[in-house]
Amino acid sequence: MAQSTTPERVQEKITAPRLIEFKRIGRKIVVVTAYDYSAARLADRAGIDVILVGDTLGIMSLGYKNTIPVTLDEMIHHTKAVKRGVKNALIVADLPFGTYQASPQEAFHNAARLLKEGGAHAVKLEGGLHLAETVLLLTNGGIPVMGHLGLTPQSVNLFGGNKVQGRSPDAAELMLRSARALEDAGAFGMVLEAIPAELSSQITSEVGIPTIGIGAGAECDGQVQVWNDLFGIYPGRPLRHAKCYVNLGTIIEEALRSYADEVRQEVFPTEENSH
Ligand code: KIV
Repeated sequence: MAQSTTPERVQEKITAPRLIEFKRIGRKIVVVTAYDYSAARLADRAGIDVILVGDTLGIMSLGYKNTIPVTLDEMIHHTKAVKRGVKNALIVADLPFGTYQASPQEAFHNAARLLKEGGAHAVKLEGGLHLAETVLLLTNGGIPVMGHLGLTPQSVNLFGGNKVQGRSPDAAELMLRSARALEDAGAFGMVLEAIPAELSSQITSEVGIPTIGIGAGAECDGQVQVWNDLFGIYPGRPLRHAKCYVNLGTIIEEALRSYADEVRQEVFPTEENSH
């Protein structure tokens, strides 16, 4: 099996308090999703600060239509795989839909499983103001929490689709209050997804914890991208907020066709590939 030959850079271990320090000193934070050992290992070696085992796992790796069906056991299973590939990055795992909304106590129990069984360092949950009590219980109990505001995909049925959020003055004001509530409850950061750049800029300057943007402009303290979008390995239409750095989808498909042709034409394996 081919191994990367690039030497590993000496990196520091990333912690939740260190990310707050990064914001203070103006160092941008880089976040990427990963759902398995190989991807996590590459991201960690590349010096990515935070690896998010996002519940987009359900769409990207499990083939679900959206993130609603993802279970806690699936999140734990994939977080464990990611954990084995990581030395320095902070591992944040998503609490999936239905595992934290009913009560702070249930949220604590499920978040603790992501840390104890999955090996995550922190959890992410979607929501702000109405989850302040939950965030407080988790952080008081020793679980670092990242919030997620704006287009929160677990609420897709409520939103009626994946739409930009926070456009009206009332919605923007509510999001600002949510951002402040997350900080007051002890969250160490928050994802801002699909909101106007002016609003994310305002939130970023008003809170002391890092904002991590996706489709939220350049003023956030960091950016997050979904693994499959970075590498063009998801069959859907490219999203406006995603940047494909290399189109591996096409390259992999081409390579698979070559492999299939060579086997069928008895070109592979050769003596070199035989024992
Ligand atoms: O699940 C996920 O991948 C996410 C990112 C889009 C922020 O929450």
